[in-house]
Amino acid sequence: MSFPADFLWGGASSAHQCEGAWNVGGRGPGKRDYMIVDRKTRQRLLTYVDRDGTRRLMPLGSGTQLPEGARYEIFDDCFYPDHDGVDFYHRYKEDIALFREMGFKVFRMSISWSRLFPRGDEAKPNQNGIAFYKDVFEELQKNGIEPLVTLWHDDTPLFLEESIGGWSSRKMIGRYEKYAEACFRAFKGLVRYWLPFNEINNVLLFLEMFGKNPTDEMYQAAYQELHYKFVAGARAAAKARQIDPRNCVGCMICGVPFYPATCDPKDIMLNHEMWEKGLLYSSDVLCRGEYPVFSHRLWREHKVNLDILPQDLEDLKKGTVNMYTFSYYMTSAVTTHNTTDIVGGNCTTGVRNPYLEYSEWGWANDPLGLRYFLEKMYTLYKLPMMIVENGLGAVDTVEDGQIHDSYRMDYLRGHIQQMKRAVENGVDLIGYTAWGCIDLVSAGGEMKKRYGFVYVDRDDNGAGTFQRLKKDSFAWYKKVIESNGEDLD
Ligand code: BG6
Repeated sequence: MSFPADFLWGGASSAHQCEGAWNVGGRGPGKRDYMIVDRKTRQRLLTYVDRDGTRRLMPLGSGTQLPEGARYEIFDDCFYPDHDGVDFYHRYKEDIALFREMGFKVFRMSISWSRLFPRGDEAKPNQNGIAFYKDVFEELQKNGIEPLVTLWHDDTPLFLEESIGGWSSRKMIGRYEKYAEACFRAFKGLVRYWLPFNEINNVLLFLEMFGKNPTDEMYQAAYQELHYKFVAGARAAAKARQIDPRNCVGCMICGVPFYPATCDPKDIMLNHEMWEKGLLYSSDVLCRGEYPVFSHRLWREHKVNLDILPQDLEDLKKGTVNMYTFSYYMTSAVTTHNTTDIVGGNCTTGVRNPYLEYSEWGWANDPLGLRYFLEKMYTLYKLPMMIVENGLGAVDTVEDGQIHDSYRMDYLRGHIQQMKRAVENGVDLIGYTAWGCIDLVSAGGEMKKRYGFVYVDRDDNGAGTFQRLKKDSFAWYKKVIESNGEDLD
């Protein structure tokens, strides 16, 4: 047995990491437009000014709101990587031609909400934004590539954050619904694969990261935010299918399988609970349309009291997804025993696993974990599955115009081999989009952490020409697609 003949091979990206043109064509700002990178700590910092005009920096993820009277501000002497991304906005034709050359059947990208609704609450979408995405989708169509579109990849319009508190507010459901509906109507016939939210379960995974010690208030906020996103996504899914019955909607789960670090029953139970909280809680709501039985225990544990209306529960039922879509980079081992050897990556931290190798950024390389996750989730949900992010973030060196990235091919080869095993074992796997198929700005704001088959000449200080170069993995992936996953050498 092998991959199905119509298997969707391709690559993935997101708007704020590759488009650039942050203030072009009427686009409004988002929080990411105010993020710089602290060179020493590699941490992302938001730039703002206090009420009295004093310049300040705030670490991302600190959970802190801006002080009263403060406002986000661009500092002229700072570098904001997302402002230019990798200039996909101006170079998409060249990039799509490269994707076609590799034989892509699908390209995952996201729409920047504030390109369509600069503040997020306008009555009508910005026609410049609609025109841009229409052009991109048409270009993909001309090249025989199916778009797979994420509606929200961590980029809420700033105005909504400032005016109503972003996803802490129920009002976001209505704002998002309007944005989603505008997309389904404007791009009808051009797009049929949709993902309402990127890695929706991250909100909970982040909380569990080592050293965070979340308070009950933090759990309350996280579960409430998730509930509003679940309802918004479910309403969007129902609307997508109402507008065009061919529309197919997927969940987007950050797929980090947990392992118990020892066979101590306490570790087994901790692992079990990490699966529940980090993975199954969100997957169940999105795939089955209802909160799983263990939700009540989770809420009780942290004294969480959610704003859930009866209509919300009906919406969740009607808005379940058509496919189980997820990202996979690594696994994470958990323990109840004292340990200091902590490693982290992709929204999780855990104990170093002595059986695995780690990337320069501390992400475990574990192809078997992908098969484990595919088979476990398929058994549970029985939905067609697609891996919409996977890859190795690494430093690439250009030598005489060439990039010899055998390490990337090794990583991908291992994972594709395990996908094949999962297919042989009965999993209905329909597609695979390698993350950052063209180099883009990493979530941490670094250019140096590259995933692409195509190299982009741009560095961490904003220097470079944006010239595109094919890496060795370009020809390799082309061969993988041509042979439908048979030739992985
Ligand atoms: C996923 C995100 O969590 O991981 C992407 O959806 C992100 O936006 C990717 O880029 C890889 O993470 P990083 O930090 O290497 O860019």
